[in-house]
Amino acid sequence: MIYFDNSATTKMYPEALDTFMKVNQSIFGNPSSLNKLGTVANDLLQQSRKQVAQLLQVLPDEIFFTSGGTEGDNWVIKGTAMEKKAYGKHIITSSVEHPAVSRSMQQLERLGFEVTYLPVNARGVVSPADVKETLREDTILVSLMAVNNEVGAIQPIQAVGDLLAEYPTIHYHVDAVQAVLEFVPMVIHPRIDFLVLSAHKFHGPKGVGILYHKKGRRMEPLFTGGGQESGYRSSTENVAGIAATAKALRMTLENYSEKRAHTLQLRDEAARFLQSFDHVRLFSVPEGAAHILCFALKDIRGEVMVHALEEQGILISTTSACSSKKGDVPATLQSMNVPAEWSRCAVRLSFAPDNTFEELETFKQVFTQLQEKFQRIQK
Ligand SMILES: Cc1ncc(COP(=O)(O)O)c(C=O)c1O
Repeated sequence: MIYFDNSATTKMYPEALDTFMKVNQSIFGNPSSLNKLGTVANDLLQQSRKQVAQLLQVLPDEIFFTSGGTEGDNWVIKGTAMEKKAYGKHIITSSVEHPAVSRSMQQLERLGFEVTYLPVNARGVVSPADVKETLREDTILVSLMAVNNEVGAIQPIQAVGDLLAEYPTIHYHVDAVQAVLEFVPMVIHPRIDFLVLSAHKFHGPKGVGILYHKKGRRMEPLFTGGGQESGYRSSTENVAGIAATAKALRMTLENYSEKRAHTLQLRDEAARFLQSFDHVRLFSVPEGAAHILCFALKDIRGEVMVHALEEQGILISTTSACSSKKGDVPATLQSMNVPAEWSRCAVRLSFAPDNTFEELETFKQVFTQLQEKFQRIQK
């Protein structure tokens, strides 16, 4: 099997899986329990927090563990809205966010908040000037994704951070779930208040997220209960998952430049190959994320391509795993003004550092045969 669907999820590092199993087997105590096993579990939890903080170059008490990217995004958006509603009800985001953000925004709109959805250009990118123009006295939050999950467009996170330096009361939230190889290794921009990651996108377990929450910034908790995570995120911590997440993040960031360079070479080679067909259109741009390549073969619907490749042992996605079963027109391509007859045909290859050029060669051969077959059928 060839797995080119790493934006949907990644395979766990064996070492991270080993940590997950061992902790679940032998350190299964509740970290809030005062007994010996609870103390050991709590020590491991705090050690993992420290390690994640070190890797992200932030403070341990700025790291909170969640159940994933969706929870992190929901928490920041709704927690900010609850915290700041007395000061303002205006929020700025983009029109190409993941549903974890866009659906949270829609929920807030139903509660009386006003949301500005910034457009993107044909390359899928928001303009910092648009952010600036849209800021108002009652703006409480700017929420942008670092890397788009459908086409890999990289948003101007640093530039928006620079301009928000003049607006210190506005919360700045970055969904960096797709950005681990692109963005996180750079020091988190000092103006970012909240940054969301998800372990299953970097070879960690599903169901564990990391929230960077800048010290001094305030938002309401989303989960109330037993007061775990310093009272900000109740629920018994997934210690085994968190320890495995810390390990996966460390391993991901080890030799990060080489890993990114390899992934980029794979993506660029795939792009060169696909561009040689005049009935293929690419939607990802060279300056986008190293791991994502979105394209369409004319008149062949995305799900048909996904299944045809799957029959040959190659796993890819339509543009996002969440919308793929619903057959929705991809939101990002729509915002980029890609005509529906093309966007319905869009599929996404997403690479990880462990993918090889041999796998890409197999993809090329299979794709060449498939597109010939599709052309014959269409005639
Ligand atoms: C950009 C982005 N944000 C948020 C999420 C949601 O993350 P999770 O699956 O951990 O809830 C995803 C998942 O695909 C994503 O790509």
